[in-house]
Amino acid sequence: MNIQTVATKLLLKLPQPILNKLMKSMPKSNKDIKNSEKPWHLKGNWAPVEEEIEIQNLETIGEIPKEINGKYIRNGMNPVSGYSDHWFFGNGMLHSVEIKDGKASYKNKYVKTPYYEKDMGMMEGSFDLKASPANTHVIRHADKILTLEEAHFPWVVDDDLETMGSHDFNGKLNGPMTAHPRVCPETNELLFFGYQMMKKPYLTYHRVSSEGELVQSEEIDIPRPVMMHDWNITKNYVIFMDLPLVFDLDQAVSGADPFGFRPECGARLGVMPRDGSNKDIKWIDINPCFVFHPMNAYEEDNKIILHVCRQNKAMVGGMNEIYGGKDTTGKLWKWTIDLDKETCEEEQVDNKACDFARVDDRLVGLKAKNGYAMAIDENAKTLTFGQFLYKFNLEKNERIDHDLGENVFGGEPVFVPKSNDSSEDEGWIMAIVFDKNINKSKLIIVDVENFDKKPVCEVILPQRVPFGAHGSWLSN
Ligand SMILES: [Fe+2]
Repeated sequence: MNIQTVATKLLLKLPQPILNKLMKSMPKSNKDIKNSEKPWHLKGNWAPVEEEIEIQNLETIGEIPKEINGKYIRNGMNPVSGYSDHWFFGNGMLHSVEIKDGKASYKNKYVKTPYYEKDMGMMEGSFDLKASPANTHVIRHADKILTLEEAHFPWVVDDDLETMGSHDFNGKLNGPMTAHPRVCPETNELLFFGYQMMKKPYLTYHRVSSEGELVQSEEIDIPRPVMMHDWNITKNYVIFMDLPLVFDLDQAVSGADPFGFRPECGARLGVMPRDGSNKDIKWIDINPCFVFHPMNAYEEDNKIILHVCRQNKAMVGGMNEIYGGKDTTGKLWKWTIDLDKETCEEEQVDNKACDFARVDDRLVGLKAKNGYAMAIDENAKTLTFGQFLYKFNLEKNERIDHDLGENVFGGEPVFVPKSNDSSEDEGWIMAIVFDKNINKSKLIIVDVENFDKKPVCEVILPQRVPFGAHGSWLSN
């Protein structure tokens, strides 16, 4: 019996025959099915790149604004073997575009965790909190650059993207960390949660001081294990989304999809003071739906206003169909929670399918006027990034489109302020997009005040950057 089997048994406390069945029900290892027909997440610009490179003085179309100094790092899935069972399980590769004195350079590196070193598959990596794909997001907090995925510890990389090690906050973190923590722009605290499916607690809340010390962890009661990809914070609260994308061990054991959309389980938002605990949560019912990514949340009077990319359903065609079709792509909705009445008003803001929503990082949890998102093609059968980036005026419920052009496909829009104290109207949106016409990826820099105009600058990247997940602008 190997160590993973022992760990599995301890973790799951399941009889061996059931465990064996569970292991068999999971997709085959990458080597076995490497040559079979590739799934969508390995084709076209989803396909991984092989080389880690570093190139200076990149070609640009237009001039890089001189105020921009720093680096944009974006994380994404790039299976080292060329194959992964699912988009979610490819190895994390960081792509960094550094901008200094009007010049840009590029480098890309894998996050070298045990998951990478041992070329693990999704099941093998499940039982070691250090064995992270580290493929979903990258943020900076308390002078550490953290690469994140939602079922493991974060991993630290240095300024050159070299992997430094896993990070468990000096042994205080003993469960997974979401890929979507929030850094409060007012206190510089790092707030996050972790969810797990195989054992209780299914949800845990954590608060980290501005210096990087984990100062609070709270177990949160939810009735069943659900996929909880992202969440919200405001000045005084955190808001959990207990939505009915339910993990079912029996289903997994029987070989069916482990996640099912079960509207009969209901959907709730849990509002908790940031220094509160389980007993302080107000759970407020909403209509069943799923949200991968909210845009932002803020408080006004005794209300909390959230903007989210709301899907009617999730993964109805199975775990591989994370998006695809009108019901399973998000659209911008506004939720208004009345904390006195403990109700939530729900209203659709816009009818364009979109996701990967962001605001100016300096306004996370505060009232931001501008929100940004990437178009998703709701007519495609599988996740397909669209030809537009969207800017929303959240006060007027208006949308401005940035057309990337024919055969150009988007990436997550990230705001870069002109200076530390400039307003949210002074700055640029950066995104790594893929131009199929020339089979190249580009970093585009779009002036937010002229959002429907062509980019002020396009940086031509020296190698294709596969469609990926999330990133951050790290100013110098
Ligand atoms: Fe995400």
